[in-house]
Amino acid sequence: MELLKIGIVGAGGIATGRHIPTFQQFQEVSVSHIYDIDAEKAKIVATEFGIAHVCDTYEEMLEAVDAVIITTPNKFHAPYTIQALNRDVHVMCEKPMALTSEECDAMIEAEEHSEGVLHIAYHYRFMKEAIAAKQIIDQGGIGEPLVINVKAMRRRKVPGWGVFTNKDLQGGGSLIDYGCHLLDLAMWLAGDIKPIEVNGTTYNRLSKDNHDIVNEWGNFDASTFEVDDHVTAYVKFDNQASMLFETSWAANIEHDEEFISIAGTKGGINVFDMKYNTASEGLMTTTTIDYVQEKNTFEYLQASNFIRTILHDSVLKVKSVEARNVSKIIEAIYLSSAQNKAIKIQNS
Ligand SMILES: NC(=O)c1ccc[n+]([C@@H]2O[C@H](COP(=O)([O-])OP(=O)(O)OC[C@H]3O[C@@H](n4cnc5c(N)ncnc54)[C@H](O)[C@@H]3O)[C@@H](O)[C@H]2O)c1
Repeated sequence: MELLKIGIVGAGGIATGRHIPTFQQFQEVSVSHIYDIDAEKAKIVATEFGIAHVCDTYEEMLEAVDAVIITTPNKFHAPYTIQALNRDVHVMCEKPMALTSEECDAMIEAEEHSEGVLHIAYHYRFMKEAIAAKQIIDQGGIGEPLVINVKAMRRRKVPGWGVFTNKDLQGGGSLIDYGCHLLDLAMWLAGDIKPIEVNGTTYNRLSKDNHDIVNEWGNFDASTFEVDDHVTAYVKFDNQASMLFETSWAANIEHDEEFISIAGTKGGINVFDMKYNTASEGLMTTTTIDYVQEKNTFEYLQASNFIRTILHDSVLKVKSVEARNVSKIIEAIYLSSAQNKAIKIQNS
């Protein structure tokens, strides 16, 4: 069998820390090409991981590979994805899908006219907790979802590397970078729900105004800090479900916390401590899920889903239209905060 040739676009932290070593575990693929705007960096990573070809341009890579993994700053997700899909090259694009929902629309249009598949790397869906919760919900365990609580909270962990605090390159801060994961997971678990209205508030005073910055994840320049570091929102969905959402990179809280609960008509689920709550026949019961029979890591499952879909052996677990809904909410939260009013979301 001919190997699927994979090209890495952006030789930074997530490429070297996750995607390259993970994809190299699969016998069906060869991580054969790499491109970075910083050519020296690409060469160093190619040597470290035994990647045969360092490309001088992205176009050169697209001529040579079957699939690309886009791990650049967020600003380049849409243009690089569209360029690849226009050449029928498969794409795994890191999250968030893009900077705006308009860019997401253009990516989906390119996907519709392409032989290539488009996977957005919302990897929380491949975690054991998510697998367990989805199974219970799909079996009707919570009935109709009503109220969704989502927290993606870090204490004093603004990413001090790369361009994470650059609004032009990233589109935002804690919300678009970190909160997006939990937003995606919560909406996917809740089923086919579409956001219709968003009220949000964004803050950045913890990082911008602070002259005594205590930060666990390296140093950043407060004077050029342009993005959000703490965000709250209230989201209404088309089926009358609603979501209370909070995310932060830097909050003054006791400890980091990732939390999703979905309270439905028949039962409720807590995702990260994997608990299932019901009430019937005079009893209230909480069940703890102690074990999920899945031996592979989420990184492996995510890569496997992408490869299997390309090989027509599976279907994409993260659909681009779902990832676009996450981007619509993010965009609406930023707008709501800027304009100090609720924002309606159009769903086609
Ligand atoms: N799924 C996750 O949990 C997760 C975690 C970290 C990062 N990410 C995402 O991955 C992407 C990259 O993050 P990172 O932490 O690896 O950042 P990074 O700064 O470590 O790496 C980005 C790389 O892209 C290169 N680059 C910049 N502009 C480029 C361009 N126009 N063309 C080609 N290369 C370019 C940079 O030189 C750098 O090597 C971001 O979109 C981020 O949101 C996802």
